[in-house]
Amino acid sequence: MEQTTNPCNTEQETTANLYQGKATMEKITSLAKRRGFVFQSSEIYGGQNGAWDYGPLGIELKNRISQTWWKEMTQLNDDIVGLDASILMHPRTWEASGHVENFTDPLVDCKKCKTRFRADQIPEENLSAKKCPECGGELTDTRKFNLMFKTNIGPAEDSASVIYLRPETAQGIYVNYKNIIQSNRMKLPFGIAQIGKAFRNEIVTKNFIFRTCEFEQMEMQYFVKPGTDEEWFNEWRKRRWAFYEKLGVKMDHLRWHQHGKDELAHYAKDAYDIEYLFPMGWRELEGIHNRSDYDLGRHTKYSGKDLNYIDQDNASERYLPFIIETSAGLTRTLLMLLCDAYDEELVPSEKEGAAEEARTVLRFHPSIAPVTVAVLPLMKKDGLAELAQDIRTGLKEDFATDYDQSGAIGRRYRRQDEAGTPFCITIDYESKENGTVTLRFRDSMEQIRVNRTLLTDCLLKEIRGYKRIK
Ligand code: GAP
Repeated sequence: MEQTTNPCNTEQETTANLYQGKATMEKITSLAKRRGFVFQSSEIYGGQNGAWDYGPLGIELKNRISQTWWKEMTQLNDDIVGLDASILMHPRTWEASGHVENFTDPLVDCKKCKTRFRADQIPEENLSAKKCPECGGELTDTRKFNLMFKTNIGPAEDSASVIYLRPETAQGIYVNYKNIIQSNRMKLPFGIAQIGKAFRNEIVTKNFIFRTCEFEQMEMQYFVKPGTDEEWFNEWRKRRWAFYEKLGVKMDHLRWHQHGKDELAHYAKDAYDIEYLFPMGWRELEGIHNRSDYDLGRHTKYSGKDLNYIDQDNASERYLPFIIETSAGLTRTLLMLLCDAYDEELVPSEKEGAAEEARTVLRFHPSIAPVTVAVLPLMKKDGLAELAQDIRTGLKEDFATDYDQSGAIGRRYRRQDEAGTPFCITIDYESKENGTVTLRFRDSMEQIRVNRTLLTDCLLKEIRGYKRIK
């Protein structure tokens, strides 16, 4: 289970050094709203705490991340198949999984200012003196608070109709593992991947979309023979690290954190987090867990069903597989990528009299950028707009495109820089004459002339060979 304490003493120093004062959570939140990545949920009613809405660029980015993860898991691994299980599951699932009993946070309230705290996040001296860290008022005793959202199914609101919104997608995989072995003739070791919503009644939901009550997870459960679990655990740690390298993330912003004995979730034999250096410090991005045979053992006990794997290659030996889990937050990865891509720099100004001007740019890897290519006619008149639309139509089948014909070209480039669009194509009078266009690169702002017939190949080559320069 996700931890919120931070083991890094020099955290503030490191954060300041690596961000050089550029990305702050305020700037990211404001850009996300301004450009239509993320909006506060139900904003016209004052907002809903812990819930966010993904706008036109946000949903494109989210889709791009989930497609990249899905491809990485299923398309590139012959032994991993997908699943989309329901959010509502039989309530016994959560008794078996240990969530009813163990999925709790310690909670205290201030009797005076009514602020609610996680007891493990306030200084020890305040907790022992029962003194509010905000106003000095008296704190209540610590009580356990279960993070699962409860609701009722059917018309009656009694204990028999209680049902939970899943707090992790993993359990949908465990209860289906036998179905998948039978339907798809899977042999150990094999994995099941799933992306979907999860819900947690989080007490503290600050830092934008970092920790929310409704979020999405990308989880893969890899079923292995007991005794080979440690080897596979190490292998999946390597593969998950390589995934972020492939995404073009700043690797000095990533580190490992192994869970100490007191941090391990109730199901875990061993666990490592991949932490990312967010503007507020090092925080968990993804967990890789050796869940042993805990989950399948508990589901065997609670359901009464035999969940043993029958090893046809080994004299029909029967055993409960061990599970290696890789569990990443999709919405948290989106936040990480916004922070990672964010940059501000001074560039030569196109305005008369000004030597330099500031630009904000999102340096997304082109394969995950919400818009891959924007088509911009230099002028609306003289048939340039029509030519630009025609060129855009030719690119739509292969790329996510945008079209913008309003305002000075420099301002349009800035808008695309802020949206993270890696390529802009400008159509001018020369384009009408000889069919060439200007291709502008977001990161270097370099411009080259390309014949329109070569654009698709040229862009595909640039995307494949992309190397981040800053
Ligand atoms: N199945 C294991 C599991 O759920 P976890 O460490 O509690 O493990 C996995 O969660 C990932 O889900 C975290 O690393 C984080 O990226 C994401 N996550 C967890 N709680 C979240 C929340 N309240 N809001 C956003 N993302 C969250």
